Amino acid sequence: MGIKFERVSYQYQGIDQRGYLAIGDINLSINAAGEFITLIGETGSGKSTLVQHMNALLLPTEGRMKLFGLTIDKNTKKNKKIKLNPIRKKVGLVFQFPEYQLFEETVLKDIIFGPKNFGVSEEEAIKRAKKMIEVVGLDESYLSRSPFNLSGGEKKRVSIAGILAMEPDVLILDEPTSGLDPMGRNALLEVFYDIHKTLNKTVIIITHDMNTVYEYAQRALVMREGVLVYDGDPLQLFSKKNIDNWNLETPDILALSKAMETKFDITFSTPPRSRKALFTEIKEVLK
Ligand SMILES: Nc1ncnc2c1ncn2[C@@H]1O[C@H](COP(=O)(O)OP(=O)(O)OP(=O)(O)O)[C@@H](O)[C@H]1O
Ligand SMILES: [Mg+2]
Repeated sequence: MGIKFERVSYQYQGIDQRGYLAIGDINLSINAAGEFITLIGETGSGKSTLVQHMNALLLPTEGRMKLFGLTIDKNTKKNKKIKLNPIRKKVGLVFQFPEYQLFEETVLKDIIFGPKNFGVSEEEAIKRAKKMIEVVGLDESYLSRSPFNLSGGEKKRVSIAGILAMEPDVLILDEPTSGLDPMGRNALLEVFYDIHKTLNKTVIIITHDMNTVYEYAQRALVMREGVLVYDGDPLQLFSKKNIDNWNLETPDILALSKAMETKFDITFSTPPRSRKALFTEIKEVLK
């Protein structure tokens, strides 16, 4: 169970008849629980298109997917018997642009919309809204405000709270921290990591920030021109060859570790992946 792609391609319909191939021939398996994945790639490489397949918002134009046991291909839309709603409950997707997700008069109504839609009682949905607004770093006073009068970062947090309130098995976040200040960014990343750790959920984060990949991910995916070119260990992703070939920025911790190795003529047996681990190594060397 979980998410499985078999040779999935998706073509957007353009103004002419030819269409535009946004992702091609993607093979991918993601577990229903326990994974922490980052997805990177240049702008226009197909990241958002790819994740919109994972909750069946977009259906493949070629190939097929298995989402929590349900087989989906280009004929699925025509078959009225196939219900996609249960998939949308299991796989929560926070859009890149929160404007697409917010539409109610108040933040409260927005957050409870999803859970209520999936059969949760109003009382329970409100309870979850009160909890989740805090989880994303806002407070209860926001619940009575209009989602349209919030800053970009606040809108983002509200749309994340709305998805969290549905308690999905798999949580997908399309650039959740873009436009946030560094403090806000780290605080939100800790929230996602906590959800993954304590509830054993699979979390997938699309990001342009290599520090997020290096410091948090257990598994890294890289899209390039609609093709999945890397699926594996985040440490090995940042080999010199890949950094050069794919024009990746070197993560801060990696750059500092390499500089230390050269300066002190040492080799780390386990490369530090976090600030804390790096400080420990520095203290060790300076003893
Ligand atoms: N609705 C659409 N209609 C036609 N083409 C689209 C549509 N949405 C995206 N595309 C095209 O598909 C390709 C992949 O877009 P996608 O949004 O998946 O990229 P992305 O990797 O998420 O980029 P970004 O980092 O800028 O968010 C792009 O070339 C884009 O122009
Ligand atoms: Mg995108």
